[in-house]
Amino acid sequence: MSIDIDNKIQGKTSSKSEPTVEIRNVSKWFGEVAALDNVSLNIQQGEFFSLLGPSGCGKTTLLRMIGGFESPSEGQILIDGTDTIGEPPYARSTNMIFQHLALFPHMNVIENVAFGLKMKSFQSDTIDQKVQESLELVRLEGYGQRKIDQLSGGQKQRVAMARALINNPSVLLLDEPLGALDLQLRLQMQDELRRLHKSLGNTFIFVTHDQGEAMAMSDRIAVMDQGHILQVGTPEDIYETPKTRFVADFVGHTNVFDGNVTKIEENGECLVSSLDLVFRCITPDGLTEGQPVSIALRFEDVSVENTTEQLNGTSISVLVTEKMYLGGMFRFKNITEDGTELTADAPNKHSAQSISEGDTVTLSWRPTDISVLIE
Ligand SMILES: Nc1ncnc2c1ncn2[C@@H]1O[C@H](COP(=O)(O)OP(=O)(O)O)[C@@H](O)[C@H]1O
Ligand SMILES: [Mg+2]
Repeated sequence: MSIDIDNKIQGKTSSKSEPTVEIRNVSKWFGEVAALDNVSLNIQQGEFFSLLGPSGCGKTTLLRMIGGFESPSEGQILIDGTDTIGEPPYARSTNMIFQHLALFPHMNVIENVAFGLKMKSFQSDTIDQKVQESLELVRLEGYGQRKIDQLSGGQKQRVAMARALINNPSVLLLDEPLGALDLQLRLQMQDELRRLHKSLGNTFIFVTHDQGEAMAMSDRIAVMDQGHILQVGTPEDIYETPKTRFVADFVGHTNVFDGNVTKIEENGECLVSSLDLVFRCITPDGLTEGQPVSIALRFEDVSVENTTEQLNGTSISVLVTEKMYLGGMFRFKNITEDGTELTADAPNKHSAQSISEGDTVTLSWRPTDISVLIE
């Protein structure tokens, strides 16, 4: 049960392919509300896995079921290959950091961190040693006697982590743990969590509604909406190849258009028409001519040039309606002759600096930058 970093790292590499948490066809109703609808998911041993989605999509409910604080209405949750049905939280190899931390304000740091082990009647010198190890892990040595209300937001966060890590749980469940922190502290704690994950090798299941946070932290991400998992993949998969309009919209800044497939060509490319625009795209599997699709084009994949030259299917002439200064880049909102809006982000370099609102410019992109969304 001791926190042995070397062993944990070895454990991580030797059994990486074993799913630690297997969610099989799980649904959860609260009265009439379906918080989760037939969700299946495998999370591997040692992964940093994020559940990403807007408020109310079922993230907390799923995490609480893995931790044993709720039970599924239907389906199974297996941890290390064993069905967890009826198993209470304290009997599981999981531990949870709650969204609002749930620290005991009348106790000091040591008492908060030691609480779980005291409840399990560990010997006091074992508890002392583990509390010290745990506080060292989160870099809070020397803070043991402080009361919770004498700590900063970031320090409270670390106490909650030390308390959750003291049992060396094989799965750590984190419910929007950084949500209450200001941006700078949030970034600092993201680094801290990544460091802890790397050194401990436990499985982390991390809930967030912040796509940037999920991208920066995770080995894999599940994007959720309205009780469903829409896509599971690495940050690159999710960002570069969103499968649905929701995912494209939710992850990153994207132009999304509804259109129809007008032509599928021999060379693996196709044409999609949307309003007055024709987009040349890479043909995904299973596409047919005439099919309604959406296409997604990220702001940063659109180049802005101060010319009126045009290439058919991959560029268009537009009027700049708004130019926003974003520090390292500019954001240009533009409109086509027929009124379609297209946004482009351009690096803060001379060519973008010289463009002004009211200018006519050429936007261009590559067919490979466009995602064709079938659902
Ligand atoms: N104890 C509960 N009783 C009734 N409805 C609940 C309860 N917990 C969650 N819900 C509902 O289930 C849905 C998912 O909630 P939740 O899992 O908290 O979402 P998230 O964490 O993604 O914001 C929401 O519609 C929410 O109102
Ligand atoms: Mg929640």
